[in-house]
Amino acid sequence: MAKCTAVAAANIALIKYWGMQDADRVWPTNPSISMTLRHCVSRSTVETIAGNEDEVLYLSDDGVPAPADAEFAAGVLRHLQRMRVLADRREAMRVATVNNFPTGAGIASSASGFAALTMAAAGALELQPDAPQLSRWARMSGSGSAARSILGGFVQWPGDAGDPDAPAQRIFDRGHWPLRDLIVVVDREPKEVSSREGHRRALTSPYYSVRQTLLPRRAERVRQALATRDFRQLAEAVEEEAIDLHLIAMSSRPPTFYWQAPTLTVLHAVRQLREGGMEVCATIDAGPNVHVLCTPRDADRAFDVLCDLPGVVQVIADEVGSDAHYDRSHLI
Ligand code: PMV
Repeated sequence: MAKCTAVAAANIALIKYWGMQDADRVWPTNPSISMTLRHCVSRSTVETIAGNEDEVLYLSDDGVPAPADAEFAAGVLRHLQRMRVLADRREAMRVATVNNFPTGAGIASSASGFAALTMAAAGALELQPDAPQLSRWARMSGSGSAARSILGGFVQWPGDAGDPDAPAQRIFDRGHWPLRDLIVVVDREPKEVSSREGHRRALTSPYYSVRQTLLPRRAERVRQALATRDFRQLAEAVEEEAIDLHLIAMSSRPPTFYWQAPTLTVLHAVRQLREGGMEVCATIDAGPNVHVLCTPRDADRAFDVLCDLPGVVQVIADEVGSDAHYDRSHLI
């Protein structure tokens, strides 16, 4: 019986994946760009076992069994089956998985969770994929952003913008620009509308086609800002993009409101800090929590201000991180 543990980090999208052109193949309508994080990680242990039934165990961050998000739970079982078929194996698997940060609240727990699961299952099934292969398999979990969590640094998925099947590709390594991400948690509970449902609804927004026309230029601005470490340019493009995603969500049929009142409080505070000369900007994935990107120069001061805002539950200080990897410390 083989046992394998993998650790993968969450990522924050600078250009968002929102909407699929092919839901079965998890082909996004546009290339996305993200920064892989360092401290917000999922750890997954997979072992092959005797018997016919897979066993899935979720642990809270102190190691105690915890209730699983229903959608994630179903996705895990489907993904194990997919991995078994890929490996041409029959054994059942036992899985344990843990996140060290709030799950399902727009902090990309499905990205890190499925990236770690894919890697651990590949190891337990004695597959030896390279990173592009792992990225493809992680995407097939249904969480497209998991394709990006396989790689550290700054990542684009699909790596080849013209090929929706292409794996994620690193565009800058983690040492290129040591950006920080202060994750401002205003609600720790899982969001009410899943990303999967959000992707489906996105295409019903009357503004979706407008978004598609704006994205190539905006993505280019993000790539250029990263290449030249131009924070002002990055801030403009990233905030425009974050608002665009939520505009699409709010104008979908039925509409989806991920923001809560403190979300706006944080957005205002970030603007004020920037007007005061600090290198900070905000982005928000599918949830109410705000990712405040900043340079190391302003991270401590921004952290203190954000912690004191009304409605803020917690601020997690993270930074750009590295590739998903195997680890010897098993959960089970
Ligand atoms: O990978 P999914 O299906 O969890 O979707 C991710 C959606 C966003 O987080 C809103 C954007 C992104 O690119 O990560």
